[in-house]
Amino acid sequence: MVARESPDGRFSQKIEERQVSDLPENEVLIRVKYSGLNYKDALSASGNRGVTKKYPFQPGIDASGIVEDSGNALFRPGDEVLVTGYDLGMNTDGGFGEYIRVPAEWIVPRPQGLTLKACMIYGTAGFTAALGIDKMLRMGQTPGDGEVLVTGASGGVGSLAVSIFSRLGFSVIAATGKHEHSDHLMRIGANRVIPREAVDDDSGRPLLRTRWAGAYDTVGGNILATVIKACKVHGSVACCGNVRSYNLETTIFPFILNGVNLLGVNSATCSMEHRRKLWDLLEDKWKPAHLDAMAKTIELDDLPSYIPRILEGKTTGRIVVNTG
Ligand SMILES: NC(=O)c1ccc[n+]([C@@H]2O[C@H](COP(=O)([O-])OP(=O)(O)OC[C@H]3O[C@@H](n4cnc5c(N)ncnc54)[C@H](OP(=O)(O)O)[C@@H]3O)[C@@H](O)[C@H]2O)c1
Repeated sequence: MVARESPDGRFSQKIEERQVSDLPENEVLIRVKYSGLNYKDALSASGNRGVTKKYPFQPGIDASGIVEDSGNALFRPGDEVLVTGYDLGMNTDGGFGEYIRVPAEWIVPRPQGLTLKACMIYGTAGFTAALGIDKMLRMGQTPGDGEVLVTGASGGVGSLAVSIFSRLGFSVIAATGKHEHSDHLMRIGANRVIPREAVDDDSGRPLLRTRWAGAYDTVGGNILATVIKACKVHGSVACCGNVRSYNLETTIFPFILNGVNLLGVNSATCSMEHRRKLWDLLEDKWKPAHLDAMAKTIELDDLPSYIPRILEGKTTGRIVVNTG
């Protein structure tokens, strides 16, 4: 799928035939089998210059597939691999096509316990959920501390965070704007579901009655501010997203009076060593029992109709793209 800018500055997305020689000159050519749709892909596809600078462009920050040609001894034709993050789908042609060509150092061999499709059910969303949860655990968060909250719970990162927390024995509160999705959230691991408004405080108070022991916020803005203000003493709040807003208005009080830790998550720049450790956990000890049920599969042709839907917050869970 190629995103193009028309002379009047509008962006459109179309399935087009391209040549492999159009791809950037990197070491490893991969035949893509699956990709996944992320919020960032929709930004790239619709002309967000903070994500993608030059158009026409093939988005897709995630890809799994089979090495077709390699100029690096680490990978051989036939190897099954995955790529998430780095510059893929930002300014390097991404997974919304039949091929990508990327540097060898971006590539993770397919974890044995996951199919190529399962790798993309996780995709950047699942990897980001794991990265934030890992940071919280390293700050000392334990299930015994009390319930953890996940905001934007029906989204890609949110739903995987709910499931992974649950797999790790945490009691999970899922905050969602989609009431009709509550049963699904309970099935994938939430212990209770609360409406988005319940985590969107407008009292202006610097601290609130504490309601969760820790949290994973995927939306930012006033919701993140609320989550921080109502976090229990010494709890951690991981944050990765800004679908609500990139502004954060807070005071110093949650940090100096309650000792709350605000943990930033950046999946694109995670080191390869840490990346592989997290994929090892995702293929085994952290793998939700119902991983396969967490995604809907679409074809490349369907992508243009899903771009506006994810931008409007109307999609749920993970959307895997069958590029094969
Ligand atoms: N830092 C990183 O490394 C990293 C990696 C991946 C993603 N991200 C970011 O994380 C965020 C989530 O990504 P995603 O792929 O999970 O997106 P997604 O699938 O679209 O999920 C976002 C969810 O946020 C909620 N939401 C949507 N609009 C909202 C609004 N105006 N106010 C409050 N909540 C709203 C919705 O869930 P409910 O209806 O359930 O509330 C929606 O499903 C994005 O900002 C993305 O760019 C960052």
